[in-house]
Amino acid sequence: MTSQHLYIVTGSSRGVGAALVQQLLKPGHVVLGIARQHNEALQSMADEAGLQLEQWPRDLGDPLPVARDLQQWLSAFDPAVFGSVNLINNAGVIGGGAPVEQIALELLSNALRVGLEATLLLSAAFLERTADWPGRRRILNISSGLGRRAMAGSTAYCAAKAGMDHLSRAIALEQATQPNPARIVSMAPGVIDTDMQVELRAMDPAKFPDHGRFMQLKSEGLLMSPQACAQQLLARLQAASFGDEPVGDLRG
Ligand SMILES: NC(=O)c1ccc[n+]([C@@H]2O[C@H](COP(=O)([O-])OP(=O)(O)OC[C@H]3O[C@@H](n4cnc5c(N)ncnc54)[C@H](OP(=O)(O)O)[C@@H]3O)[C@@H](O)[C@H]2O)c1
Repeated sequence: MTSQHLYIVTGSSRGVGAALVQQLLKPGHVVLGIARQHNEALQSMADEAGLQLEQWPRDLGDPLPVARDLQQWLSAFDPAVFGSVNLINNAGVIGGGAPVEQIALELLSNALRVGLEATLLLSAAFLERTADWPGRRRILNISSGLGRRAMAGSTAYCAAKAGMDHLSRAIALEQATQPNPARIVSMAPGVIDTDMQVELRAMDPAKFPDHGRFMQLKSEGLLMSPQACAQQLLARLQAASFGDEPVGDLRG
């Protein structure tokens, strides 16, 4: 009996993460969302339909205890019932808008902890605890074109995403020699109409040279909806080819 599928989504309270969770709410799916805020609308949707959604109100700026709790949580399941187990590291923060020397050190630290350290620790916890699970094991990291092309005024974000891409390449090599290798992809999703874009447009153009480009993306209607983005991400995640290349782009 392998009729169930387990999904863990970070940054589940808003934006792309909330759209991912909404689309994952289906019979036979067990979904865990992790973010600082609880999304009441998603919970009501799940509860009313009798679907399995758990939300952890946790701060991924302090990822170590969350990774430990994830190990413990995973240990309580019977692996035999799952056809697949999936971790989506989606939480991210810009932590910028100006040259690094003008940003509070706490914000720089937080951007790396949420975007990079949490991705590494949750991935390690997930891989360790599901190592002998029989179903498909997959990690989808939500990266950015900015992990591959630097942008002034977002150094911590660029560094977190570049690190996310490279840790995905390294984990893919490690998994290749395992009996049931987890498949991992660091995927740049394109530009999406979420709070993150609102934040970018609110930045000071004097300190953030790309400000005009983000204003233009919005005014010309070039931002993807979170729902469309989530749909494409899940199609990639569930495709047989997922993990053939550890770094990808939804637009490519
Ligand atoms: N929007 C874009 O154009 C774009 C482009 C390229 C890549 N991306 C990437 O796509 C992913 C989703 O972005 P988005 O646009 O949906 O962002 P968003 O609207 O800003 O949402 C960010 C999510 O991350 C969570 N988060 C932030 N800090 C957290 C913390 N300390 N602990 C736990 N969760 C935290 C937030 O939840 P809480 O506030 O409740 O904690 C929220 O659910 C990110 O990795 C982003 O870098 C976005």
